[in-house]
Amino acid sequence: MTKRGGVGGASPRASTDGPAAVDLIRAKRDGGRLDEAAIRWLIGAYLRGEVAEEQMSALLMAVYFRGFDQAELRAWTAAMVESGERLDLAAAGRPTVDKHSTGGVGDKVSLVLAPLVAACGAAVPQLSGRGLGHTGGTLDKLESIPGWRAALPPAAMMTVLRQAGCVICAAGRGLAPADRRLYALRDVTGTVESIPLIASSIMSKKIAEGTAALVLDVKVGSGAFMQAEAGARTLAETMVTLGAEHGVRTSALLTRMDTPLGRAVGNAVEVEEAVAALAGKGPPDLAEVVLALAGEMLRLAGVAADPAAALADGSALERYRAMIAAQGGDPDAPLPRAAHARPVPAPASGWLRRLDARAVGVAAWRLGAGRARKEDDVDPAAGVLCLAKPGEQVEAGQPLLELRTGDAARFGPALAALAGAIDVGQPPGPLPALVIDRIGD
Ligand code: URA
Repeated sequence: MTKRGGVGGASPRASTDGPAAVDLIRAKRDGGRLDEAAIRWLIGAYLRGEVAEEQMSALLMAVYFRGFDQAELRAWTAAMVESGERLDLAAAGRPTVDKHSTGGVGDKVSLVLAPLVAACGAAVPQLSGRGLGHTGGTLDKLESIPGWRAALPPAAMMTVLRQAGCVICAAGRGLAPADRRLYALRDVTGTVESIPLIASSIMSKKIAEGTAALVLDVKVGSGAFMQAEAGARTLAETMVTLGAEHGVRTSALLTRMDTPLGRAVGNAVEVEEAVAALAGKGPPDLAEVVLALAGEMLRLAGVAADPAAALADGSALERYRAMIAAQGGDPDAPLPRAAHARPVPAPASGWLRRLDARAVGVAAWRLGAGRARKEDDVDPAAGVLCLAKPGEQVEAGQPLLELRTGDAARFGPALAALAGAIDVGQPPGPLPALVIDRIGD
């Protein structure tokens, strides 16, 4: 086993023929590299039940500490893609382009962006996930719309994509099934926070989805998965390279996530804010991120159009309504309202200098907007409204936040999450631009 040569050999053995898995674990543990055949065998054998959960756990921990080089990462991602089906989106009839966010607080960008880019002439096939922890999930948000369905078989997904130009739905079980198994294992083995494992997990699903182009919104800051810019940059570069290697034109924007995006954090409250943004009446920070991502998506898709015009003339809102209706939802139905609301007053007079995204996300989660376990239900009406945002002047006692929930017993834990999250004082100076950098194609 050598650090240079690669371990595994041209024809990996089935586990019944010898201790292949343990050899590969030892090799990675000791800083060696695995060759493509070994990686393909490992993933396939794990799915067939020939590599035990404890062996894959040990291998993931070895990858966590030793990492993958680019060739290993390419092979690992390809094996995950090939573990399931790869969608063919040719019938969309227009250039396809998707966006993925690494997750933030108040991040309702997809709800505005998908119909906006569709209104500009591209097709947006967005297979999304549910929220876990303090960041919300796009599907949870849309499910607060009466009748709206997240689960669509591939044929129905294509029908919505052709009719509305965009679709946001749950990824089917046939898409990168190796990632589903590995993600669940990473979740319980302390191996989620590994850049190669995160990058391959996200990109395997996007490559399998069949989109021709992809823009990544890699969030940086207290409310993001990656809190430091250096780590976010490495993750972005790793995913951009993987996309290019698998024939998906990919770029990434690094965007700030130190304070919630927009004023609404939750499910129904975020849908309401997204609809306002589609009508050109949304908060400026949300519009800034949406327009930057839309411009990038249209550039990669090769479509010349002005996304700001599609917000102003109502065509993006029309696409949104068509997409919601095509997925069984009633875009005019009233959204659920919370039974209980409680204001959080400003502690002093001055300028709001800081409203911590993570604390607000945790508060919304504790109010019922998010789930602690995959099996939990979310409260569609729960959440936090940010009545003031950093840079605004406030008076002592004025409501800064409004907490909403269906269960008043949740106010206490939500308020505890907000301890130390709010800073009022001297004027903070100009707020930095939300887009930090662009990486890739
Ligand atoms: N999202 C994913 O899909 N995979 C990860 O590993 C982390 C976030």
